Amino acid sequence: MRRAVVVGSGAREHALAWGLAKSADVVVTPGNAGIAAHGFTCVETPATELEADLFVIGPEQPLVEGLADRLRAQGKTVVGPGADGAHLEGSKAFMKEFLAAAGVPTAAFGTFRAESDAIAFLRSMSPPYVVKTDGLAAGKGVLVTDDFEQACADVRDKLSGSAFGSAGTTVIIEEGLDGEECSLLVLCDGTDVVALVPAQDFKRVGDGDRGANTGGMGAYAPMESMGADEVHEVMESIVAPTLRELRAREIDFRGVLYAGVMLTSDGPKLLEYNVRFGDPETEVIVPLYGAGLFELLVRVGEGTLAGASAPASGYAVTVVLAAHGYPESPRTGDVIRGLGVDGQLVEPREGVIVFHAGTTRNDDGEFATAGGRVLAVTGEASSMAEARHRAYEAASLVTFEGKVMRTDIALAVV
Ligand code: AMP
Ligand code: GLY
Repeated sequence: MRRAVVVGSGAREHALAWGLAKSADVVVTPGNAGIAAHGFTCVETPATELEADLFVIGPEQPLVEGLADRLRAQGKTVVGPGADGAHLEGSKAFMKEFLAAAGVPTAAFGTFRAESDAIAFLRSMSPPYVVKTDGLAAGKGVLVTDDFEQACADVRDKLSGSAFGSAGTTVIIEEGLDGEECSLLVLCDGTDVVALVPAQDFKRVGDGDRGANTGGMGAYAPMESMGADEVHEVMESIVAPTLRELRAREIDFRGVLYAGVMLTSDGPKLLEYNVRFGDPETEVIVPLYGAGLFELLVRVGEGTLAGASAPASGYAVTVVLAAHGYPESPRTGDVIRGLGVDGQLVEPREGVIVFHAGTTRNDDGEFATAGGRVLAVTGEASSMAEARHRAYEAASLVTFEGKVMRTDIALAVV
């Protein structure tokens, strides 16, 4: 049996482990209590000290810090760009400069370190105002608001370092774009690309897209409004020029180029690139690929993606269960009811998988909350309506004090 190592500790890594395990022995480093309970080997050993046929790096931080470079220097097959490619996500200012050089359609923007310049630029924009931190902020460094005063206050908080420390002391102010959002995760082996099924992520904490931006409160795939023609358009207008620019800069990008796209009345525009699998998108994408995932990812790492096809089937919906106080100040330690010793539903349901994001086992062996996002409950089925029904029915069977959950994930598409 071939062996895969997944690096990370959230529901995305749980989903990757679960998908890869259809064709490989999987080790997760470091993983979490729920991934281990589900039967996957979780170790604290750093990836550089492990041996496997495939290494998949989940989170952005180790990519930005060059983990993929270190693994490749050891001759390993890795899904995840080196530090040069990861800079696309590590610095929004770099990304915007890169997009401009590549000619990728994106929101007009300015980059600022001085408050007065930033406020003057805001004054020249019309609402909605969009203020972003330059550095990594776990998906929470973006404010979109119609309130000019709130935008100014946010600029001050970010530039002073009080909001995101040094990650925030350069701000990007962008033109507000309007439209439906799509996460198009594109496998890239440095030369060739294969788009995975388009997914939609729900970033705001509350129903009706209200409240603070989060890491993601749920997702569904495929996105029916992104048919083959629409995907082709994004690949041509956004991904192709990006590949050309990567090559021009001699960046050998082997990993997931995750295009966060706004489908505007002016055509698709890129909101941002991430350089990894999305979370919670992965929890709906992986189930659609069955046993083909391992081979596909090996080809990404080996640079042999040319001619690969990625047959996906079915529909999936994931509902994130977050902790009391998420995203501002999540509480930990609440006991979770409804999960068995394997971390799955006590009463198993067809087409349901419970992916663990932030859980731990307390002294009594019960699962308890240990992070902002706690669980991602995925339903898969042969229709979106059934997938959604399965996800929500399962989500209702899992309870803990203060559970935060959106009730409208994929509601508009069933
Ligand atoms: P980002 O982390 O850059 O993807 O931003 C997080 C979320 O903020 C996006 O998914 C959008 O919902 C929203 N957003 C970001 N940039 C813009 C923009 N220029 N116009 C409107 N909404 C935006
Ligand atoms: N779902 C948003 C992200 O992974 O960044």
